Amino acid sequence: MTVRHFLDITDLTASDLNSVMNLAQAEIATLGQPLAGKGVALIFEKPSNRTRQSMEMAVVQLGGHPIFTRGEEVGFDQRETVEDVTRIMAGYHHVVAARVFAHSVLQRMAAVSSVPIINLLSEQSHPMQALADVLTMRQELGDLRKKTVAWIGDYNNVARSLVEACSLEGMNIRIGCPNGYGASDSELARIAKLGAATVNQFDSAQTAATDADAVHTDVFVSMGQELETAKRLIDFKDFCVDSKVMSHASKNAIFMHCLPAHRGVEVSAEVIDGQQSRIVTQAHNRMHAARGLLAHLMGVTP
Ligand code: CP
Ligand code: NVA
Repeated sequence: MTVRHFLDITDLTASDLNSVMNLAQAEIATLGQPLAGKGVALIFEKPSNRTRQSMEMAVVQLGGHPIFTRGEEVGFDQRETVEDVTRIMAGYHHVVAARVFAHSVLQRMAAVSSVPIINLLSEQSHPMQALADVLTMRQELGDLRKKTVAWIGDYNNVARSLVEACSLEGMNIRIGCPNGYGASDSELARIAKLGAATVNQFDSAQTAATDADAVHTDVFVSMGQELETAKRLIDFKDFCVDSKVMSHASKNAIFMHCLPAHRGVEVSAEVIDGQQSRIVTQAHNRMHAARGLLAHLMGVTP
């Protein structure tokens, strides 16, 4: 049987995404204990608060046992090869999940693994975050078809997974990035093909936010990009989501951020701590979305 991996949102169809969302919202007791007596390996090459905690608790809620391991202890391609690590862990665990610097590590893991591999963030994508983001937007906005999502800032790992998921949901997508930090034309075309109502990119935060139902942002300097900090902070200076940017969005728009956040840099304190912000629900939804995804990978149907 083919093993179902989750390296990117595009590993799910729109119908799979809908199932994961339904499983995420189902009463825990109705999911059974599909991980009873089973292990889930969680390997982190980078720091984490939400991803580690939400995954560990989701595994526990499904009856399983999470084992957290730091990247240095595993030593991908230093202590032993990625392939050796994966084949061994796949004998102990029913799922192996990893947060890595290089997405290619996850692809190499998936190529040899007899159990599902889950991406807990790579430089390319953060699909577990996007599941929680869609769950939060569904709860807040209802049916997402033809609703409008705005991404303001860096077209990074979080952005890529979010717009993939929003496209599967049939949304209007408006991306606002400084020149040089946006999606390429071929990337925009790839996103549009997944089912979006519309996909547009702008070099102005205010234009991108116009009429949006949900406005998202993330840090301007991601983990691994620390040497670019000074240049990025200059290049992104006009992309802080502040009240002025939010005033262009729809009257009832919500503000979202995957966290950790820097107040006064990518978002003003007034916005992230204000009435429109849904950051706490969004972070809590990481656990519910993770439970839904794990149940889906274990073959539970809603
Ligand atoms: N949003 C997110 O992935 O947070 P952590 O880096 O704390 O896991
Ligand atoms: N884009 C950020 C997300 C952190 C959750 C990073 O990769 O550091």
